[in-house]
Amino acid sequence: MPEYLPTAPYRGTRDFLPPEMSVRTQVFGKLYEVIERYGFLRYDGPILESAEIYEAKSGEEIANQQLYTLTDRGGRRLALRPEMTPSVARMIAGNAGSLQFPVRWYSHPNCHRYERPQRGRVREHWQINVDIFGSTSASCEIEIFELIHDMLGGLGASEDMFVVRANDRNLLSSALTDVVGVTQEQLPEVFALVDRWEKYEREKLAASAEEIGLSGNQFDKLGDVLAAGTALLDELPAHVKDGSNLVKVLGSSAAGLIRFDPMIVRGLAYYTSTVFEVFDTSPENNRALFGGGAYSDLASLFTPQQIPGIGFGMGDVTLMDFLQTHGLLPQPRSEVDAVVIPVVEELGDAARQVAATLRRAGIRTSVPLEYRKLGKELGRADKAGARAVVIVGQEDWDAGNVTVRSLVTREQRQVTVDAAPTTVTELLTD
Ligand code: HAM
Repeated sequence: MPEYLPTAPYRGTRDFLPPEMSVRTQVFGKLYEVIERYGFLRYDGPILESAEIYEAKSGEEIANQQLYTLTDRGGRRLALRPEMTPSVARMIAGNAGSLQFPVRWYSHPNCHRYERPQRGRVREHWQINVDIFGSTSASCEIEIFELIHDMLGGLGASEDMFVVRANDRNLLSSALTDVVGVTQEQLPEVFALVDRWEKYEREKLAASAEEIGLSGNQFDKLGDVLAAGTALLDELPAHVKDGSNLVKVLGSSAAGLIRFDPMIVRGLAYYTSTVFEVFDTSPENNRALFGGGAYSDLASLFTPQQIPGIGFGMGDVTLMDFLQTHGLLPQPRSEVDAVVIPVVEELGDAARQVAATLRRAGIRTSVPLEYRKLGKELGRADKAGARAVVIVGQEDWDAGNVTVRSLVTREQRQVTVDAAPTTVTELLTD
């Protein structure tokens, strides 16, 4: 026996066969439409980048544990992009002179991260990225939160199905230093601890806190701060709140779009103020659907010009789980709307001519590539999801006619060849 290679894709990556691809195309098509309604323009970029841009910008977890790196034949160290943000920062920096800021851009790249595959986590995911560059106005936060609601609403989700949990890293820093008594040196480690707060057992958290040097009392206070919700704001100094866009959002008519949650910090290194994640309210999906935040200067690797921004990534895996859980996945589209069937093999050419007229009228049409008897072909047309067939018989054809049949109602009409597209359209819209 010869040894065959496996047909399964590489662990943590997926094949998308046509039925699944059809569902995805409908879902993402809807999302592009909603995003473009806000004036965002789509861009794209290479899947390979210099490894350095992630090591400098993405933070420890991505750089040290998740990056797929390679060396090209010229000895350059490259990486498969684990996220789009450093690439788009490079593009914005490189084209800053010709752009009219603020810029609204979106993309839909595939991203690679070496993670342990599990529910909501794979090694190649597709991530919609939406960012506004060149503004620090709180209107950006509001626009981003409105867009998130419209994207999920556009897919049929109601407000009770998801929650946008938002925080400001500066508010949290202030709470940690002023209320909990964390030192400046301890801050990064306490942030990392907060990021794990919901994933770890209490004992493990307490042990980590002790390692950082927090007392038992400080650990309890930290727990109180993280659970405080908006009440925490009362304890923070006015100058910190005055500088926070998130506080402005909470005081605006957009406040209802988010839930202030001091526990959201995000793992990525570049966020400097607002951070947010969107979660399914259904307990089986506990991974974030969207993750994002505001950065005061993402382009510093590439240009001295300071370019702030705010944006998010939304992954396909968690989105599909969300839609499935809430019964919001669309049906796959049929292969074709109509099939033109020649009754005898000699009429193959005639069938192709009829199919061409249907296609010109915008009807998705196929003709059999191999001749089969009418009964067999009707069964195959049904299976392919066609809702109409055009039967080309010798006598009909000699008289300039064909027979159009609805596979839904079984209604059948004999019409001239010229009238076939209109008749099929009528049957399809019935
Ligand atoms: P992130 O939180 O690392 O942010 O990823 C954003 C979203 O991508 C996650 O909420 C999740 O839906 C999806 N995602 C990430 N990793 C995986 C994975 N291994 N498997 C499946 N889905 C995954 C970023 O990447 C930021 N660059 C987003 C951003 C854009 N911030 C500002 N602009």
